[in-house]
Amino acid sequence: MSSKKALSRTSWFTESRFGLFIHWGLYSMPARHEWVRNKEKISNEEYQKYFEHFNPDLYDPKEWAREAKNAGMKYFVITTKHHEGFCLWDSKLTDYKAPCTPCRRDLLKPMVEAFRSEGLKVGFYYSLLDWHHPHYTVDKIHPMRDNEEERGKNSKRDIRKYTKYLHGQVRELLSNFGKIDILWFDFSYPGEDGKGRDDWDSENLLKMVRKLQPDVMIDNRLDLPGSGDFETPEQFQPPAPLRDGNGDIKVWEACQTFSGSWGYYRDEYSWRERDELLCTLIDCVSKGGNLLMNVGPTARGEFDARALDRLRFFGEWMKRHSRSIYGCGAAPAEFKAPPGCMLTYNSEKEILYIHVQRWPYKFILAEGQAYFDRVEYAQFLHDGSEIDIKGVDAWHMSQFPDSKTLYSFAIPQKRPDVAVPVIEVFLKKQ
Ligand code: GLC
Repeated sequence: MSSKKALSRTSWFTESRFGLFIHWGLYSMPARHEWVRNKEKISNEEYQKYFEHFNPDLYDPKEWAREAKNAGMKYFVITTKHHEGFCLWDSKLTDYKAPCTPCRRDLLKPMVEAFRSEGLKVGFYYSLLDWHHPHYTVDKIHPMRDNEEERGKNSKRDIRKYTKYLHGQVRELLSNFGKIDILWFDFSYPGEDGKGRDDWDSENLLKMVRKLQPDVMIDNRLDLPGSGDFETPEQFQPPAPLRDGNGDIKVWEACQTFSGSWGYYRDEYSWRERDELLCTLIDCVSKGGNLLMNVGPTARGEFDARALDRLRFFGEWMKRHSRSIYGCGAAPAEFKAPPGCMLTYNSEKEILYIHVQRWPYKFILAEGQAYFDRVEYAQFLHDGSEIDIKGVDAWHMSQFPDSKTLYSFAIPQKRPDVAVPVIEVFLKKQ
């Protein structure tokens, strides 16, 4: 694939910057992590009670889509199947699917329609792992890893039959739901007692995907070096932009949780602060990346109050500040972020955005000649009110030894009442 082609495939994505991850499956019922089967070594038989009682009667995907849109998100990625193997759609290749539970319906179709009609792009997460499939061999992270009897049955299992199933399911997902914008495979763990490209037959899988949907973006977890359209740092923020061999910033997307778990976790109290989450979004964009923020809906099909609170917090800020997010990326190197600030930059419009995390007294002091050469006009983003760029008076400036290269934006003593104030700096066109 030529890099030009790859660029056109990803340009909507880097423009959007902010998406919603949704982890939803049977694990929302035990409500203690989507890896509950692995952690507690639960067998298929013991896990079956969830399948038999799954009935998300309050599920309203239109409401989910509205919340995502109001939060400022431009796309979503849904777990069509997670490691537990349960499918949200009406797959013809298995009965381990939503339509065979008490809810009796395909949960994916209405979700895709609802998000699309709110204008969001559609991403499918598909787990390469499958702890339910009879031919998926027991390995080091399988729930039955310490069960000798189950391990013993590996000789009768044929991973090729699973590979065929995996390919068949991906074919369904790419054939029956219209245009899919992202395919998010998770994940490979090659090596001893693990699984990787040979088990998934990643090469042919990729060929099929490209043939069925040439424009779909694929993540980097197929264990096939160079095949991914984007990098996927997870549960940590890269300290600097991710760059390729030429020094160019790669397409990347951090995926993060509100609380630590991806699936709904009733008794988890390590929820992140709202400000911290918002700063994570700004941090991603300031390094040229995206944020995929996760929600784990409940077993009855709702976003719980804690998740809604955070989504709406994002929305409140995005309502007035999305200009510093959409279409923005890392600032040119000659612009250094002032202390306590993060910069984003719209290269098409040549506008710099200073996100002020720590409010200083009266002035934001920015180091570097570029500010002197390029700044034309500055205003607060939330209310469009002018920011004085006449410069600090000589007496104050005389107290700074390096005053000649310190550019100053005069700000009100009192921090504006928004979660993270932003100064929009129009640069002289080059
Ligand atoms: C990790 C988690 C998995 C989750 C994924 C999302 O691999 O273990 O449960 O789906 O991250 O990136």
